[in-house]
Amino acid sequence: MVQPGSDMEAAVGCLQNAQLVGIPTETVYGLAANALRTDAVAKIFSAKNRPFFDPLIVHTHDISEVYQYVRTMPEKAKILAEAFWPGPLTLVLPKADLIPDLVTAGQDTVGIRVPSHPVCLALLKQLDFPLAAPSANPFGYVSPTTAQHVVDQLGEKVCYVLDGGPCTVGVESTIIGFPGGEPVVYRLGGISIEQISAVVGFVAEQISGGSNPAAPGQLDVHYSPHCRVILEHTAKIEDSKEVCYLRFTSRIPGIDSERQYVLSPLGSPEEAAVNLFAMLRTLDQSGYRSIVAELLPEVGLGRAVNDRLRRAAAK
Ligand code: TXA
Ligand code: MG
Repeated sequence: MVQPGSDMEAAVGCLQNAQLVGIPTETVYGLAANALRTDAVAKIFSAKNRPFFDPLIVHTHDISEVYQYVRTMPEKAKILAEAFWPGPLTLVLPKADLIPDLVTAGQDTVGIRVPSHPVCLALLKQLDFPLAAPSANPFGYVSPTTAQHVVDQLGEKVCYVLDGGPCTVGVESTIIGFPGGEPVVYRLGGISIEQISAVVGFVAEQISGGSNPAAPGQLDVHYSPHCRVILEHTAKIEDSKEVCYLRFTSRIPGIDSERQYVLSPLGSPEEAAVNLFAMLRTLDQSGYRSIVAELLPEVGLGRAVNDRLRRAAAK
């Protein structure tokens, strides 16, 4: 079992040898490999038990690097890249031949992003290849937001885990494609729709579930803890010692406070996003039969948090 640490040389060595490394990003921890080598990328799929129809996101350290990996960049993609990179935004663009088909699940497009985490950027700068990295969790489970989360679930399968502290965004990147040259949001994430619209005007949304959607991270049952998640407003809840509560800003009066986790005492959707996955994980591991979750107001990052809670409840 590997110990997480800050040994950059170790991480570089593993990646150069086509091995897997757990890497910090501002959104969630990634399970990274050399994106240009099929043998390295194949290890990601087997470690995660991830179906081959689910494409990976390619990470690089600068916008100037992106042009080697894509054939075209629509005007609005450039505007979004300038506005939000480095940061939690993934752009889906026509792929260059350099990117193996395994990375993109045979699609003609590649999802690409420049993350803002300083440790991740420092690592990417030391490599002469980009990193393919999905979230570092077994397929379908809650995403990891600390190095220890990665070790807990994938510690046997990685060469190293680079520790960059707890993630500061806490939900995955927002994914935007350009099917007709105009931006379409495929996944809600760390950059809100309001932030996107402020830069490029109205954006369409195609955030669907199903078995083979445009953005397969959108499978209905993603982000699922092992115990049952129930959305607070959907059912009359019988309170018992086997039930715990994930709340937005305040506890429910009259219920044991140890069984209630509060995402953001200050009512901030950003803070709620930071705490979401770690709290779901802790509650899942505490032996409760079900987690009753309160949705956030549908604004800003509240929409991305609610998307994750709805998918967790869909199992
Ligand atoms: O914040 C993030 O994006 C994190 C960190 C590690 O960067 N990564 C992440 O990867 O969330 P993952 O594998 O959990 O989600 C990748 C999703 C796929 O499931 C798919 O929905 C979408 O990105 N995607 C990737 N390439 C695509 C493509 N060519 N077309 C459409 N969707 C794509
Ligand atoms: Mg994921």
